Amino acid sequence: MTFIQALAMFAMARSWFSALLVSQSAALPGDGLAQKPPMGYNSWNDLECRPSEQKLIAIAEKLKLLGFLQLGYEYVVVDDCWMISRTAKGKLKSDKAAFPSGMKALGDRLHELGFKYGIYTDRGFKTCAGRPASLGYEADDGRQFASWQVDFLKNDGCVDPDCGDVMAGHPQSGKCDIEGKKATVQKYRRMADALNSSGRPIVHSICGWNPWFAGIGHQIGHMWRVTADVRNWKGVYEASRVMEKLLKHHGVSGWNDPDMLIGSSHGAKLVLTPAQSRAQFSLWAVMSAPLMLGVNVMKITDFDVETYSNAEAIRINQDPDFKTGRVVFSNCPAYPDLETGVNLDGSPAFSIRWPHGGVNCGNHIANNCGSCGTGDDRCHGACKWIRNPGGDLPKCLPVDNTSAKTNVSCGGHHAKSCEECPRGNGRTWCNKDCKWLDEGECVPSDKQTSYEDRWNPWTLEMINDQAERECQIVWAKTLSTGEVAVAGVNFAARKAVVSLQLSKLLQEKTENVRLAVKNVWSGQSRMQSGDLHLSLEAKGGHQLLLLMDAKVARDLTEQTAKHRPCIGASCSNNRKEGAFFSPLHGDVVKELLSKSPRSVLEKLLERSITEQKALQMEDLFQELPAELDEGSNPGYEIPTVLALVSLAFLVIILCTRRAHKYTQK
Ligand code: GAL
Repeated sequence: MTFIQALAMFAMARSWFSALLVSQSAALPGDGLAQKPPMGYNSWNDLECRPSEQKLIAIAEKLKLLGFLQLGYEYVVVDDCWMISRTAKGKLKSDKAAFPSGMKALGDRLHELGFKYGIYTDRGFKTCAGRPASLGYEADDGRQFASWQVDFLKNDGCVDPDCGDVMAGHPQSGKCDIEGKKATVQKYRRMADALNSSGRPIVHSICGWNPWFAGIGHQIGHMWRVTADVRNWKGVYEASRVMEKLLKHHGVSGWNDPDMLIGSSHGAKLVLTPAQSRAQFSLWAVMSAPLMLGVNVMKITDFDVETYSNAEAIRINQDPDFKTGRVVFSNCPAYPDLETGVNLDGSPAFSIRWPHGGVNCGNHIANNCGSCGTGDDRCHGACKWIRNPGGDLPKCLPVDNTSAKTNVSCGGHHAKSCEECPRGNGRTWCNKDCKWLDEGECVPSDKQTSYEDRWNPWTLEMINDQAERECQIVWAKTLSTGEVAVAGVNFAARKAVVSLQLSKLLQEKTENVRLAVKNVWSGQSRMQSGDLHLSLEAKGGHQLLLLMDAKVARDLTEQTAKHRPCIGASCSNNRKEGAFFSPLHGDVVKELLSKSPRSVLEKLLERSITEQKALQMEDLFQELPAELDEGSNPGYEIPTVLALVSLAFLVIILCTRRAHKYTQK
């Protein structure tokens, strides 16, 4: 059998197999959907409340042209604002001005292009942008989405009377206690049931912006938002801190979702600096987070294309071992442990364990309520402020070095002594030369909503306060290949160097480890022993590295060499100790910008001939039938190459999925 025949047979087998999968109906949990962190584009960060059929199609076409579909970004999701009202019969109606051909037609076009179709709804009365939502209509809406051939449903959490903002006439609103949580889970379950009974495999992406979904999420969805919206650099920090605490719920049966990616291409509603957007992608890769692009695709910069098309970063994220990353270094403030699961009665469980058994004083943590800080503004959450428990009036006293003064400034006023500063307005009129003594007390609260029962428990002072975020975090993830991916990010305003012991990263006791280290962003590789020093620029400085034991790297090189065809040159000349997988080259990515993937492959193949360099496609070969070993590998000439080009799409899919290209050290 020739190479071409084998390839064609493989392609056929693959499409039959996928067809078989698609014909099966989805049934949570573990229904086989979203086996890897879902990848795609979502309109919200880019277009906010102005999506349209024309924009979405243009975006999908551009994504395809850029080669992003082949890289795995398969879902195109239209977020909020596609719907305008409900018909008298209760059917959701799309905004005709923005979607003149209707929502089914949009999906058809996306499918034609090869994408999967994602749509948005909300579990409450209205969406976050105030459009009609699914509460009470779950079965109908689920059926409707399936009839539009939807493949992915993002289900938001606004205007929910049980677990959300305060709503007049809804006593349960404004908090999210156990009853509120149960009611919320039921709403999502009703939608999951509707999707399941439609018989169409639809990924249910729950967007309840809360860590407690992690414990029960796999019963009702395939991914679940565990944080508030990531709208800026602070949000990136916040999301990574929450993810760090929810690792045991993250994996094949569903994914913790730290929200979408923010690009650095201007024109999108949300933008980060280039370094920060790449830092976010590095973290999301190692955290195995869903990769939903929230970038201005139509005006995407080369930098963002290079970020999001880095095949190594994608391979790290999509690694088939489904291992989650872990934090291997952090000098950030202690973050509470988030315990989430399912109670015996099936209700969602959630508790927050503050470090050192401390208490939550509202937006910060202290050892006990008494040490929350002075003043009622520092005493909330699990504590409450009792003013003047002894009945004494609050006092305005001189600050130490002004006690002798006979004319003091009480802020905007003057008086003979602090005691005479205007009383009625308390602390605000007592400052400058004087200080305010509250004589209140911060004691445990019996009435206030506990932190766990708030619907937004993520707003901690340590996250909001920039001064608290002057820190660096390093995540590591062990891959199925034996490599360890390491992502280091600097959240501080100053440059930093983080040193890591290699043996710890590999989780081995061995001393004197020698590693092959590849910098995923620069493509450079080097050998390393001793400590690893990560030099991180300020405000989003980052590194994404792939480490591999030098010996394992060599074994792997030898192993894969057996099944690897060489085009135009002898493979063996290109193999050296320490060489291992590399991403698509920068210039290839640039070509993807302007040309179709087909022509890029053609160029790649031609170049490999003219430059006498081997083109490695070991991944492709690993997928092929076992009989196809190097014995059946013909020496390819230009005509064969041209024939190969006709299968360009397939090759690109397979190559870039686990794009493995050996580089020399
Ligand atoms: C938010 C959600 C965002 C976006 C927005 C739409 O609640 O977190 O991702 O979907 O609603 O209004």
